Amino acid sequence: MKKEKNILCIGAGYVGGPTMAVIASKCPEYRVTVADIDEKRINAWNSDKLPIYEPGLSELVKKVRGKRLFFTTDIAKGIKDAGIIFVSVNTPTKTFGEGAGKAADLQYWEKTARAIVEHAEDNKIVIEKSTLPLRAAEAMHRILHSNTKGLVFDVISNPEFMAEGTAIDDMQNPDRVLVGGMETAGGKKAVERIIDIYAHWVPRERILATNVWSSELSKLVANAMLAQRISSINSISALCEKTDANVNEVAKAVGMDSRIGPKFLRASVGFGGSCFKKDILNLVYLCEYYGLPEVAAYWEEVVKINDFQEKRFVKNVVKNMFNTVAGKKIAVFGFAFKADTGDTRESPAIYVSRMLLDEKAELAICDPEALDNAKRDLAEDKGKFEFVNDPYKCARNAHAVLILTEWNEFKKLDYRKIYASMEKPAFIFDGRNILDHKELFKIGFNVFPIGSAKLTHLK
Ligand code: UDX
Ligand code: UDX
Repeated sequence: MKKEKNILCIGAGYVGGPTMAVIASKCPEYRVTVADIDEKRINAWNSDKLPIYEPGLSELVKKVRGKRLFFTTDIAKGIKDAGIIFVSVNTPTKTFGEGAGKAADLQYWEKTARAIVEHAEDNKIVIEKSTLPLRAAEAMHRILHSNTKGLVFDVISNPEFMAEGTAIDDMQNPDRVLVGGMETAGGKKAVERIIDIYAHWVPRERILATNVWSSELSKLVANAMLAQRISSINSISALCEKTDANVNEVAKAVGMDSRIGPKFLRASVGFGGSCFKKDILNLVYLCEYYGLPEVAAYWEEVVKINDFQEKRFVKNVVKNMFNTVAGKKIAVFGFAFKADTGDTRESPAIYVSRMLLDEKAELAICDPEALDNAKRDLAEDKGKFEFVNDPYKCARNAHAVLILTEWNEFKKLDYRKIYASMEKPAFIFDGRNILDHKELFKIGFNVFPIGSAKLTHLK
């Protein structure tokens, strides 16, 4: 097989794995290899139990694995063999030094660039799939061209817009694909080669070619604007709770304006996920770096409202449970940052659980997919908490149920049975507004939705 039809992806995570599975399934003449330093992860990709849960992923991987899709830890060989290299290693927020808490930690990404320089024997296209700060492609370009072998690398920015839980569908039917390249003859050719891959299944008019900086920035701005909508509606949910307005009705009325649109206006306990907070903070850092403190402060507020919303939720729980939850069992329904994923990165459930443990509550946590990650997240935390598979057991003898993830399973439970097994008065705090609040009230619960009046039997 010709090298230009040989694709390597470095980083077999939530982004690399699903993206490459779709490319392999759609492009029969390509051979796709996904490489990772983590042997356990690669073994899992090669087994029946994939390392991540994503609807439709397992079926897709089984169809092409061993034929056009391969998983390996041999990054050096992968680099040698491939003409096109996607980089999707993680770029978390820095926890140390300059820019700590805001800037992206680029050490893995730089290490990967250096590995490419070391092992490459011919020219290659290198694609940034990880979200990176603006002008990272330029830095990547410099590192790659520090090679003394006379090799030429074309660096492309091709951000992902997949949301977890719908990653496969998002990738198969994207709103748009963005391919940013350098404005040189080589750069333009490289952009065309990447467009050719996506054109196997994406209509041409949905594939945008831009310059590399616009592409990098668009990714940050898309996530910042999506998160901004959630913080906007969440800030209004606080006001609704003080008045007799209902945030669901407000969101519907506002969203029916076609200029605004209905999506991403679901009030919640807060947004989570590996991207939103990290990307906004990255944007904030960039604005500060370029001497735009007003712009930085504007975007930082989106994260602050999210923190406020999580804290407000816990305050509401404590205040309404007679100002103390010490020694009380509280059932946490949902630990994933959203439904249909086992991912708990930046999940509001982590922060809510920690605040409740500080209040000395005793937590029972259930989630259909995220309990292994939840155990890891709380491994260092002190206090009384347990992980329970069955929601009915989880709620038994609890004073309150907290809905923190919008899993469909939670909508279908028998809340009469749950109520009967709980301590009285029994509370439900619906952090996702997914339950029938009037019905719960009829059963006997004291119900606290987000952004609408509480329904309580307490005088
Ligand atoms: C991705 C992007 O890369 C990140 O920038 C984006 O904002 C979110 O999505 P994701 O796929 O979710 O990250 O991360 P993760 O699941 O942690 O996967 C990254 C993989 O890269 C891991 O499996 C890790 O082992 C691997 N890795 C990391 C390498 O192979 N080499 C390294 O040097 C570092
Ligand atoms: C996001 C972007 O949507 C995706 O395009 C990008 O590539 C990666 O980051 P993801 O974080 O996987 O995807 O999920 P998303 O559906 O955006 O949800 C993020 C968080 O916002 C979740 O915690 C979700 O529960 C919350 N959310 C979403 C709300 O609270 N209200 C809403 O109306 C929508």
